[in-house]
Amino acid sequence: MRKRRKLALLLVIVVLIILQFFQPEKNQGNITQEGDLLLVSVVPDSLAAILINSCYDCHSNHTEYPWYSRISPVSWYLQKHVRDGKEDLNLSEFGNLSKAEKIGALSDVYEALEASNMPLQSYILIHKDARMSQDEIDALMVWADQESLSLMKK
Ligand code: HEC
Repeated sequence: MRKRRKLALLLVIVVLIILQFFQPEKNQGNITQEGDLLLVSVVPDSLAAILINSCYDCHSNHTEYPWYSRISPVSWYLQKHVRDGKEDLNLSEFGNLSKAEKIGALSDVYEALEASNMPLQSYILIHKDARMSQDEIDALMVWADQESLSLMKK
């Protein structure tokens, strides 16, 4: 019995090692990209820092990868969040959206914050510094609202 347990453990280790050879493609585009929300919109520095810290890992073309994110299968789990997050909202390419799409994206941001859907809970658990205070959430919501109002006037 003990022998079998040892063998099972060994098998798990071998599988984990083999898994390391299979890694997803990294999301490592240019940080300052033409069309980035922070370049095409008026975002106060304090809010830009919050966005980069709490949202950009999954909603831009550039993810900051901590060491453990390079370990399979964690890397695949993360990759899925980045892919799904970017599909819904890619802040690196905000400038390429039409006016109506921009207004829609800003209202989605407002709603996601209001509902406390974002950042994802699993992300906050690990990235404690991505947790936003209520003041920060409110400030970002007010900004999203003002930004879409000023777009409507253009
Ligand atoms: C760990 C990755 C991650 C982080 C960090 C993150 N998001 Fe998301 N976001 C996602 C994923 C994945 C989706 C796709 C829908 C889902 O799974 O809920 C999404 C969807 C969205 C959507 C689309 C509408 C919706 O609610 O489904 C908006 C808007 C959004 N996120 C805004 C934000 C904002 C604003 C921040 C920062 C305050 C943020 N997200 C941080 C992963 C993330």
